[in-house]
Amino acid sequence: MGEGPAQTDGRARHVAIIMDGNGRWAKKRALPRAVGHQRGVEAVRRLVRGLEPMGLDCITLYAFSSENWKRSEDEVDDLMNLMRKFIKSDLPDFVANDVKLKIIGDWRGLAPDIVAMLEDALEQTSKGTKTLAVALNYGGQDEIVRAAAKAAEIGEVTAQSIAANLDTHDLPPLDLLIRTSGEIRLSNFLLWQAAYAEMLFVDTLWPDFKPEHLAEALDDFAKRERRYGGR
Ligand code: IPE
Ligand code: IPE
Ligand code: MG
Repeated sequence: MGEGPAQTDGRARHVAIIMDGNGRWAKKRALPRAVGHQRGVEAVRRLVRGLEPMGLDCITLYAFSSENWKRSEDEVDDLMNLMRKFIKSDLPDFVANDVKLKIIGDWRGLAPDIVAMLEDALEQTSKGTKTLAVALNYGGQDEIVRAAAKAAEIGEVTAQSIAANLDTHDLPPLDLLIRTSGEIRLSNFLLWQAAYAEMLFVDTLWPDFKPEHLAEALDDFAKRERRYGGR
């Protein structure tokens, strides 16, 4: 992902979302957390299907952080099984709708069958024109450390060479970072890329998030003045 302002027409090209609040959504309804996660997947599906008119080139979704392994084994299993189901059920849809899948994070550390499914999905969607980037086993600090190590290997540690080695190196600069569920923190997501991104924190719990919410967020973004330190 390049340095500095690339976008000049006020249009957001790259939006990232910290999809938070599945557990609280379920708790409010006295349902198991797993049901909240299932509904969370439905919100992802709705969003991907409703992306076309928003004119984005890329959307990046935080699906599983490198810290989420701290959750109970049952919850981690539920999340991994949902991932397997989602890839299987929605891959044909991605291909049909020109969606190019991209995975960021240390995803090769996931279960071998998931890694194989993802490799196949990446291959099948490689010709897509709009990118759906999914952060899996992702930690922003880990990403920066890996990128800095690669930059050091080639003997050139600069902001540019680190950026060129981030998992997001081939994505457009991040314009807008949204977090649902009312929490106001980054939880180790896109730390480097957020340097000059606009941020929006909304109270909506992730399973309730609709394409209309994203459209509203983009309207809000369009009204902002980005300065990048200049005047
Ligand atoms: C987000 O919802 C999903 C993941 C982190 C995988 P949470 O499970 O964090 O939901 P809350 O924050 O407990 O409500
Ligand atoms: C961030 O949410 C990770 C994802 C949405 C995948 P968490 O729910 O894990 O973050 P914390 O623990 O509230 O900071
Ligand atoms: Mg949470």
